Amino acid sequence: MRDDVPSIRPEALGDPGFLSDHGLRLAYAAGGMVKGISSRPLVERMARARLLAYFGAGGLNADAVEAAVASLSRALGPDSPWGVNFLHNFVLPAAEEQVVDILLRHDVRRIEASAFIMPTPALARYRITGLAAGPGGSVLRRHRVLAKLSRSEVARGFLAPVEPEIVAGLLARGAISEEQARLAERVPLADDIVVEADSGGHTDKRVALALLPAIRRLRDAAASGFPPAARVRVGLAGGIGAPEAVAAAFVLGADFVMTGSINQATVEAGTSDTVKDMLQAAGPQDCEMAPAGDMFEIGTRIQVLRRGTLFAARGNRLYELYRRLPSLDALEPAERRDIETRFTGRPLEAVWAETAAHYAAVAPAELAEAEANPKKKMAMVFRWYFIHTNRLALDGDPAHKSNFQIHCGPAMAACNAWLRGTMMESWRARHVDVLADRLMQDAASHLQERLSLWTRQGDAGAPARAAIGAER
Ligand SMILES: Cc1cc2nc3c(=O)[nH]c(=O)nc-3n(C[C@H](O)[C@H](O)[C@H](O)COP(=O)(O)O)c2cc1C
Repeated sequence: MRDDVPSIRPEALGDPGFLSDHGLRLAYAAGGMVKGISSRPLVERMARARLLAYFGAGGLNADAVEAAVASLSRALGPDSPWGVNFLHNFVLPAAEEQVVDILLRHDVRRIEASAFIMPTPALARYRITGLAAGPGGSVLRRHRVLAKLSRSEVARGFLAPVEPEIVAGLLARGAISEEQARLAERVPLADDIVVEADSGGHTDKRVALALLPAIRRLRDAAASGFPPAARVRVGLAGGIGAPEAVAAAFVLGADFVMTGSINQATVEAGTSDTVKDMLQAAGPQDCEMAPAGDMFEIGTRIQVLRRGTLFAARGNRLYELYRRLPSLDALEPAERRDIETRFTGRPLEAVWAETAAHYAAVAPAELAEAEANPKKKMAMVFRWYFIHTNRLALDGDPAHKSNFQIHCGPAMAACNAWLRGTMMESWRARHVDVLADRLMQDAASHLQERLSLWTRQGDAGAPARAAIGAER
């Protein structure tokens, strides 16, 4: 290594404001993973290492979210670097409000807002109830919002203040004070944006190399009309599983990086050992797109592990049948038998009975609609399969492997290849914070090596270039 190449330390990668605002050692975050896969132990371990992580509250009922949040809050206190994943609920806005009540009750200072198309009153309430007047006319932001997105139109909403009509609504119902309503005009909705490219789970598979520069420019353009937007940091997620990818993200201009898939194959992740074994064996061709159970009817898709399971093929088949047929009664008998024996493992009547009982308790209007509309009933029966396969993966009984639904992106294979032949080859030796440290350390070394190489090549090439110049 040459002496005149400045040394690059992992702590120097990314934006210093990201580190100081969140109390971190490294500009790195572990994204929330549904149903507590980003578990309490995972979040706790990261926070104790002064690394940021979000609890995977999506898909859990309010009691489970409250229990986890209360326990994290007791163990870590409000100032440690941890937060909660806050998923947009486009069917039940009341569910978002319920999560905000939990966050406020336990003084949670950070959320990772995702799946939002536009800001909702619940999201705005969380943000604005954290605002206070600070010294010298500044605005203190006790509730930090990190927005996860992959579209420019969504980014715009987070780079601007909350819309006046939403603020007025919150004020009218006494959810925020007059002062907070005024302060809300002076801050963008988000402190941080994470641009999510080709990731595990819900993804529209955007290309990081193209998307990050575009959203950074959008942020700069927003700041020309609303200067506080200049402070919104833009990080990158999706496909990050090897140190070279971390290095590339920072060279692209990312203020921080976020990982997801790779944290699922760590000791702390809240999924089964069988799933972790399968993830550890994943290679570059082992991911595939499948329908998303939560937005089945509108054709939303997720990226999942293909190797060792038939979930993607089966999910795609159910979606194709849903598109083509008017009702369950239109299923060919052989097709129906196949679904009942290999997919659901029980008669479709039994699936419907269970589904109907659930909706009778939580959303009777939905049930009534399905009883009158056979296509909707078919969607609800098929959606059951997606809940079921999620549970099977979390439970981890190898006998049900063929139906495991495992959200995973290509980052997993990159991570496996990087760690092959090292002490961390087995997931049993992968701890989420150590993985983060190794990735950042090796990314810094990688950058240093490249810089040193290019500098040497520059020196070696100088006489040749001078000669070419002289010829011309
Ligand atoms: C198993 C799994 C579950 C996930 N669940 C959620 C979730 O509930 N909410 C969310 O915002 N992101 C979720 N994500 C996305 C991650 O937080 C993160 O943004 C993404 O995985 C980063 O891309 P990568 O998988 O390529 O590392 C999930 C990802 C995985 C792999």
